[in-house]
Amino acid sequence: MENQTVEVRELSAHVGEEVTVSGWVGATRVHGKVAFLDVRDGTGVVQGVVVKKQVPASVWEAHGTLTQESSVVVTGTVRSEPRAPGGHELGVTGLEVIRLAEEYPIQPKEHGVDFLLDHRHLWLRSSLQWAGLRVRAEVEQAIHDFFYQRGFVRIDSPILTGSIGEHAGTLFQTDYFDEKAYLAQTGQLYGEAAAAAFRKIYTFGPTFRAERSKTRRHLTEFWMVEPEVAFLDSEGNMKLQEEFVTYLVERALERCPDELKVLERDTTKLANVRPPFHRLAYTDAVAKLRGMGREMEWGSDLGAPDETALTEGLDRPLFVFDYPKEVKAFYMKENPADPRTVLCDDCLAPEGYGEIIGGSQREDDLERLVARIREQELPEEAYDWYLDLRRYGTFVHSGFGLGIERTVAWITGRPHIREMIPFPRLMNRLKP
Ligand code: 4AD
Ligand code: MG
Repeated sequence: MENQTVEVRELSAHVGEEVTVSGWVGATRVHGKVAFLDVRDGTGVVQGVVVKKQVPASVWEAHGTLTQESSVVVTGTVRSEPRAPGGHELGVTGLEVIRLAEEYPIQPKEHGVDFLLDHRHLWLRSSLQWAGLRVRAEVEQAIHDFFYQRGFVRIDSPILTGSIGEHAGTLFQTDYFDEKAYLAQTGQLYGEAAAAAFRKIYTFGPTFRAERSKTRRHLTEFWMVEPEVAFLDSEGNMKLQEEFVTYLVERALERCPDELKVLERDTTKLANVRPPFHRLAYTDAVAKLRGMGREMEWGSDLGAPDETALTEGLDRPLFVFDYPKEVKAFYMKENPADPRTVLCDDCLAPEGYGEIIGGSQREDDLERLVARIREQELPEEAYDWYLDLRRYGTFVHSGFGLGIERTVAWITGRPHIREMIPFPRLMNRLKP
């Protein structure tokens, strides 16, 4: 009978059967007349056991030649083995070497981060990277499911744009025939146009910011999901955010328990993430920070250390809302109760992860919006189409942007968001 090729993650359904697994070799060991090899097939890792007197001499010899990351096809009988990673092992009967690997640069010792980033194309194979990016994929799927279930329409916004979406400071500019184009900092402005056509929409895609800062929270290319909802105010916007974040955390806990174990994530820290999240007006946040002995002037933005201080010890995220106009983007709606501020919120994750969402109600008054564009010295002519949304049936609307990498870093408990994207783009890194 021909052996079935199976994926390692499916081995539990094949206990007692002889199967074939194809993959790459990890560690190998020999103890007298018994030899071991770990085989990683992309879905998991299984340990193969080769008993010298039970296999043809060619199999024993082939095992002796194996180098780390050689590609192989292994045949063997599946046994339950609770002590083995994944809970199974293969009693090897056959071993075909597809190609012996050259000396593999990543060894089971500590490497510097620059070295690992230079070898990102290989580093992806390491267990922590594998686990983290699988959680990312689950979170992305959860994002689509959440909005699909609620009747949102996915809108693909352009990457090349002539209108500055956020701030003039962090633009990537490129030639576009006889014009200048920017890489999108956000899909939001297009999302607002689509909200008037479809009511509830979300954009999902890469966004670009020429961040000159080298921090663990900044990439120059990152992925963002941006819902936009017609006839939703700032309060409703925060409710949507807390439901959404709760759903993403629940999905990761439910569907990625093995990955979170590999990552050694203390999942009890995520157990209380559910509505309502904590809330603090910006003005109260300033008072609180001063009370903690921190230097903080009303009117300045919160820095990463301020965000960490405010969320210290919290069991779920914190909304800081209604920031001063000066520190926020031009499109946010002036707060009628205090016109020095705008109707917006930042959602701050606990454990020092800081802002994962920026959201706001949008300025729906044509004159005020034009005034804000002028105040921020943005090129007015680029926004004629955007202003049309206020000319033709203006409407209360709100939305937010959640950064995928920051959210996944928090859920997985990893310290730096550069590990949460397959091929990170950082200030000094365009390769691989
Ligand atoms: O707060 P931001 O700048 O908001 C916007 O872009 C709005 N247009 C969103 C909207 O209302 N539709 O960015 C939103 C989120 C941040 O909270 C953060 O999670 C992430 O995007 N983010 C970054 N992630 C990684 N690297 C960077 N350089 C980031 N800048 C923002
Ligand atoms: Mg922000």
